[in-house]
Amino acid sequence: MCAAKTSKSKTEKRTDKAGENPPEKAKKKADDKSAASPAPGGGRFVVVGNLKGGSGKSTVVFNLAVWLADQGHTIRLVDLDPQKTLTDLVAVRTELGWEPALATPLTTAELPPGGPGSWTLVDVGAADMAGMLTAVGSADLVLVPVMPGQADIWATQRYLKTIDRERPDHGVVRLFVNRADAGSGSRETREAVVALEAISGMLGAVSVLPARLGRRIAFCRSLSEGSAVFELEPKSKASEEFQALAQAIVEPRRGRNRKS
Ligand SMILES: Nc1ncnc2c1ncn2[C@@H]1O[C@H](COP(=O)(O)OP(=O)(O)O)[C@@H](O)[C@H]1O
Ligand SMILES: [Mg+2]
Repeated sequence: MCAAKTSKSKTEKRTDKAGENPPEKAKKKADDKSAASPAPGGGRFVVVGNLKGGSGKSTVVFNLAVWLADQGHTIRLVDLDPQKTLTDLVAVRTELGWEPALATPLTTAELPPGGPGSWTLVDVGAADMAGMLTAVGSADLVLVPVMPGQADIWATQRYLKTIDRERPDHGVVRLFVNRADAGSGSRETREAVVALEAISGMLGAVSVLPARLGRRIAFCRSLSEGSAVFELEPKSKASEEFQALAQAIVEPRRGRNRKS
């Protein structure tokens, strides 16, 4: 379980900034940026969604935003979850002075297209289905974090069917396992991957990313400290896993899903 902090206190900020207990420098760049390819002709629009709470949507949006911003991309964040985890997280980051800074997330997905090289990242769950479907209709990539577990698999199947039925114009869909048991050979994780592959085979333009994130304390710290895992613990397994996932996400965009 992730231990929670009760406040985003400026006392912590002062401690960090005074260098008495400094975090690894936020400006430290991710190791390998070579695969990040700016999309030709316009910005990327990515929805990170699932019907299931706790699957890691906000964590992934936030870490991906920092990773992309670190490489000089313009980032537009959209937080459609009434819990506003992403918004709180950006506020903590701002308060603690981490760089690159992220702008306060927007609250609507009805946006003009982003400029070339920009990334719009939408964090959305079941609480705003209308917003979810609007966002999915604009997305060139729908990214779906899934925790291993039967209820999560069912919810993901339902989610995919919903977006495929309601928004057949959705972009490419990529599923990935989040909060996998450490040691990726665990039975639960293997079964989850098999189940997700079976689900994805039922729909066009859906596939499972081989990259996955283990259940690691660094992701909890990421939320409580307003910084990405590769800023907090650059040499950690969490950092390595996240960067592999990010590289897979920023692959050049493929065609949108059109059913024949
Ligand atoms: N890979 C992971 N390992 C450990 N904890 C994680 C991981 N991904 C997310 N978490 C934690 O799980 C909780 C839910 O994550 P969150 O991103 O808020 O999910 P969602 O936005 O889908 O509701 C948070 O406490 C977060 O720190
Ligand atoms: Mg969330």
